[in-house]
Amino acid sequence: MTDLQSSSTLQLLHELKRRYVELDTPPGRYVFVGAPGSGKGTQSCLFSKSHSLCHLSTGDILRQTAMQSDDIGLKVKKQMQEGKLVDDDIVLKLLNEKMNEPSCMRGFILDGFPRNAHQAEKLHNYLEKSGKKLDGVMYFGAPDELLVKRIEGRRVHPTSGRVYHTEFNPPKVEGKDDVTGEPLIQRSDDNAVTLFERLKCYHKETTPLIDYYSNLGLLSHIDASKSVDKVQKEINTVIAKKEQNGHPEPLVNGNSG
Ligand code: AP5
Repeated sequence: MTDLQSSSTLQLLHELKRRYVELDTPPGRYVFVGAPGSGKGTQSCLFSKSHSLCHLSTGDILRQTAMQSDDIGLKVKKQMQEGKLVDDDIVLKLLNEKMNEPSCMRGFILDGFPRNAHQAEKLHNYLEKSGKKLDGVMYFGAPDELLVKRIEGRRVHPTSGRVYHTEFNPPKVEGKDDVTGEPLIQRSDDNAVTLFERLKCYHKETTPLIDYYSNLGLLSHIDASKSVDKVQKEINTVIAKKEQNGHPEPLVNGNSG
């Protein structure tokens, strides 16, 4: 929020509430990594709220970009539709802009980034340059058969990013967002053909990161096949332990103000 005068009272109150919650929650920088449908987005959303951290989903950022009718938008749309990774230079530029926003200064959850060795190296360099480190990497493990079921039943509210599932997490009214009552949609890449490509791409490009972060002592295995509540508890337990051990470096820009 850069222009106080043009912000509505409601926006200001939300911002105030967010900063108030921040006072009681430790900062942190986390990566949530896992296959499509493993629940990264669902848990990032819950964790970012409970810990007042910025939730950066490269998938959401790219979906917004794909709505543009310029060359970049069209390219991103095509690559996502094919289940491929979007070019690193596009992803890095977009993410960099978001990471430098004031609300991300005290910490963030990276949901869906990094996704290959090059992106992991770029993230490492970016943090190192500003004297920061990752606090942990949560690896969401679940069998492919379950992922397919989760993806097939997923419904989203595009404006807010709220995620539902027809069976596992149904909205109060079928096909409608709980908060706004607006229609839910099925993501255009949530079809059998694209999902097959996304899973293939995940196993080839992203799985090697598990060893990379494990060797750095940052990786925690999360059993993502459990219910949303159980997965949330497991993550909270792992991160509470990390927080007890202290933040690895003094907080630079400890708040967003
Ligand atoms: P992205 O949007 O990141 O998709 P993804 O990685 O394929 O992951 P999903 O969003 O499909 O799954 P999720 O793990 O978040 O699961 P969710 O919580 O929604 O990326 C899309 C595309 O963008 C990529 O294919 C690529 O083209 C591009 N892209 C993104 N990042 C990029 C990068 N860094 N570089 C290059 N390209 C990039 O849960 C799924 C469903 O299951 C929901 O319905 C949910 O309600 C339900 N559910 C969740 N948890 C549980 C549970 N524990 N029990 C029961 N149901 C559950």
